[in-house]
Amino acid sequence: MRTPTGSTDRRIDKLIDLLVKNAMVVVPGPKIASEIGVTRQQVWAWIEKLRSLGMEIGGVPAEGYQMVTIPDILAPSLLRAELGDHPLGRNIIHYFRTDSTNAAAVKLAAEGAEHGTVVVAEEQTAGRGRLGRAWFSEKSSGIYASIILRPPLSPAAAPVLTLMAGLAAQKAVNTVTGLAVDIRWPNDLLVNGKKVCGILTEMSAEVDRLHAVVLGIGINVNHSLMPTPLEDIATSLRMEAHRGISRVQVFVALLRELERYYQLLLKSGGKAISERWEAASSFAHGKRVRVVTAAGEDLATTTGLDPNGALKIQFDDGRQESLVAGEVVEVK
Ligand code: BTN
Repeated sequence: MRTPTGSTDRRIDKLIDLLVKNAMVVVPGPKIASEIGVTRQQVWAWIEKLRSLGMEIGGVPAEGYQMVTIPDILAPSLLRAELGDHPLGRNIIHYFRTDSTNAAAVKLAAEGAEHGTVVVAEEQTAGRGRLGRAWFSEKSSGIYASIILRPPLSPAAAPVLTLMAGLAAQKAVNTVTGLAVDIRWPNDLLVNGKKVCGILTEMSAEVDRLHAVVLGIGINVNHSLMPTPLEDIATSLRMEAHRGISRVQVFVALLRELERYYQLLLKSGGKAISERWEAASSFAHGKRVRVVTAAGEDLATTTGLDPNGALKIQFDDGRQESLVAGEVVEVK
């Protein structure tokens, strides 16, 4: 596959890799230039670009360059070093800036990108959220990623794939940060009642077969504050853990957990996922919620999940329903 328009030049990735692997020494500019096959001027320009993204690179063109600290950038070479040969992420497409990784992944999927292709960006200019909302995508603070899956399943399995992504993200965030993470149906992650992660699933399908599923995952990792009007409803892992969190570590854990739950889904079916989701979310049973759908808003209590991933609710007037779309908000 050709490099998608605007994605990070693979030679920048090589430059990062070279500096990280030689972090103890000053690497001469001409050596870098010849190893990655560009001019010394180009090396200098890329070093400046990486510095502007917060990477600490010492040195000057006349002597050479040295990585001062291992950068927390989601560059393929750095992810690969941690992830090894893994089914999700064999092909990683990185952007310093793009409109939306989901938009890029949907296009790549239509062009035939393989199962497990990952699109990741340091910044999104038009991040997409659920229900037509925007996703705040501050530069180098969050994880903005889309994973292309080609599951041998019918379109009816799509909601369970969405729940699966929430479970994987919950486990990854908890493992890396130690924070207690709740899941609000269908797959928002909450820490201390505020949102730290959202997932947007987009897909292409025939009547009986899914062609491709794009799991778009946004995690607020190192934001030091959330802008108004998000501050009351959203937070970041750093704000809750009171320390900086490695985006590389969270992302690698996420890809590993996603693969684990994906294999569970293929082997044991949707029920195995919905049972685990019920155990992992305080929203599954007995939660008082405001249900927001295209039809309007109403108060209800949750009564579990059905095996297809729909949230069972009982409205205050006694009506029972299985929710397949829309959202719920806790009522205290
Ligand atoms: C939500 O509204 O909760 C879902 C948010 C999903 C955001 C992620 S960020 C990476 C991917 N690309 C997008 O444009 N959206 C998703």
